[in-house]
Amino acid sequence: MTVSDNKNKDVYNPSKGILDKANIRGYEKLYQQSIKNPEAFWAGIAKELNWYKPWKKVLEWKYPFAKWFVDGKTNIVANAVDRHLTTFRRNKIAIIWEGENNETKTLSYYALNREVSKFANVLKAAGIKKGDRVTIYMPRIPEQVIAMLATAKIGAIHSVVYGGFSVEALHARIIDSASKVVITADGGYMNNKIVQLKSITDEAVKRSPSVETVIVVKRIGHDINMESGRDYWYHDLMNLPIASPKCETEVMDAEDPLYILYTSGTTGAPKGVVHTIGGYMTYIYATMKYVFDIKEEDRWWCTADPGWVTGHSYIVYAPLMLGTTSIMYEGSPTYPYPDRWWSIVEKYGVNVLYTTPTGIRSLMRFGELWVNRRDLSSLRLLGTVGEPINPEAWRWYYRVIGKEKCPIMDTWWQTETGGFMITPLPETPLRPGSAAKPFFGIVADVVDEKGRPVSPNMEGSLIIKKPWPGMLRTIYRDPERYKKVYWEKIPGNVYTTGDSAKKDEDGYIWIIGRQDDVIKVSGYRLGTAEIESALVSHPAVAEAAAIGKPHEIKGTAIKVFVVLRTGFSASDDLMDELRSHVAKELGPIAKPEEIQFVDSLPKTRSGKIMRRLLKARELGMPEGDISTLEE
Ligand code: WTA
Repeated sequence: MTVSDNKNKDVYNPSKGILDKANIRGYEKLYQQSIKNPEAFWAGIAKELNWYKPWKKVLEWKYPFAKWFVDGKTNIVANAVDRHLTTFRRNKIAIIWEGENNETKTLSYYALNREVSKFANVLKAAGIKKGDRVTIYMPRIPEQVIAMLATAKIGAIHSVVYGGFSVEALHARIIDSASKVVITADGGYMNNKIVQLKSITDEAVKRSPSVETVIVVKRIGHDINMESGRDYWYHDLMNLPIASPKCETEVMDAEDPLYILYTSGTTGAPKGVVHTIGGYMTYIYATMKYVFDIKEEDRWWCTADPGWVTGHSYIVYAPLMLGTTSIMYEGSPTYPYPDRWWSIVEKYGVNVLYTTPTGIRSLMRFGELWVNRRDLSSLRLLGTVGEPINPEAWRWYYRVIGKEKCPIMDTWWQTETGGFMITPLPETPLRPGSAAKPFFGIVADVVDEKGRPVSPNMEGSLIIKKPWPGMLRTIYRDPERYKKVYWEKIPGNVYTTGDSAKKDEDGYIWIIGRQDDVIKVSGYRLGTAEIESALVSHPAVAEAAAIGKPHEIKGTAIKVFVVLRTGFSASDDLMDELRSHVAKELGPIAKPEEIQFVDSLPKTRSGKIMRRLLKARELGMPEGDISTLEE
């Protein structure tokens, strides 16, 4: 790649080698075609996949509800696993897994199918039928992927809860989805510590009447509580005659739900984002194929967790649909040394690496020596996701990891969008800090609160103007909230992303950050309301307000303002206790970086906490309109 001085901008062009091999070239023309006739574009992609019965209509759009590939019948597992079994890919490695303790496992597509089919039969024996919900709360181990695929294979709906969440977060998600089965493990390794998944599950399930069965994978092998009649070991079940390796893949409607994935919104209750099968699989397949330029011989590594949408789409479903070899690593990037990630790249010969700005920044501070002890020459393309990447981290990633030859795909998207929305392609001239342009078929703009496009380089709200196949279909059991949150905030029947952004004169989009009460901590999405309600559940806390504050490594860190109940006084011990309390309720990722005790919180006359004002004061920014502030 060469660095050129394009209108005095920092622009990075791809090398001839990258261009010559790209799966797709000629973005501008193809993009115009794709938005002029999106149905033809998406039908063309969907035809690369297997369908039991073709669709009658590509899109049925009744604002704000979309149906894609109407009446088409398929199953994502038929595309991610089954169809490879009759080709040379049956012998290809589907998943390479490395545990934090160096243990490794590989599964060919043939072996993956066998495990998935067996576990699908186990789930059936546990009474799971098409449409039932299954909660998966696991460490990053192959059984997590097997559980997701087995659930989808029999037409049930998975709700994966990130293994770093704790009791309250898990409980709320089990209750909302009314899951019959919870799949967990006796623990997981993270930074040489054991995450006590089973005791957290026990706490959460105790108050969840829908749960009949808990299936437990033995990862650690230490003593845990097993409740007779409710809890079963995964390996015991997989050895029973019920776990036959033959299982038909259920024929599903394109619009049947595939999964629910809970994400933080602006109220305390997490939103169950619902993705359906046909459109989602078509969308993520296309995005991965074109953006990450996947080749048959590639080894792909996405460092995310399957518990987040990035893992759903780009560890599990899209790589497997493309017949790729996908790498999964269980633990911490710095265990035992800060070169763990680079050792994995070297050991497995990773070609495409997809990670987060926080990951990059946290390893950057250990210096280049840790990177340079490893051979990273297999890398061809890099990617980032989850939060804006600061140009300094971008350049380090480009120079130190990519050795100035790997284009960086800065992909902007959300749990709700299913896959990449604003993204470069390998051919795109890159500008550090910009996610470049909309993917094929995506009509995006930056507008003011009335929905009018703002001038170039002015900040506004990022919106999407047309439906796309990977979009969420609804919020589970709450279509009204779906409508209100995403489609009615900005006039013009457009999808509101909740992000602010700028578009430059060349059409490059620069994401600024969240506009709502969502905080992105190390790329993890948390709602201020969730953090506040965790704090208020402590006996010492009367009121709390959480804000996001810039942080060198995490991008954003949580600061909370706390009003104590009478009888309690501020102290360092109490501060520590409150931080641990939040970690116990929600999970370590939600632990506040800073706590400040205050006498009162600024509120509007209608009693809403003015977090915007707290933030402005904290950061020394203008206070803006405070006319609604209560005296
Ligand atoms: C942020 C993660 C800047 C954004 C896939 C979005 C980004 C939220 C980027 C969604 C990026 C994601 N540049 N910001 N490349 N990618 N974001 O649902 O604020 O966990 O709205 O999905 O992450 O977070 P979520």
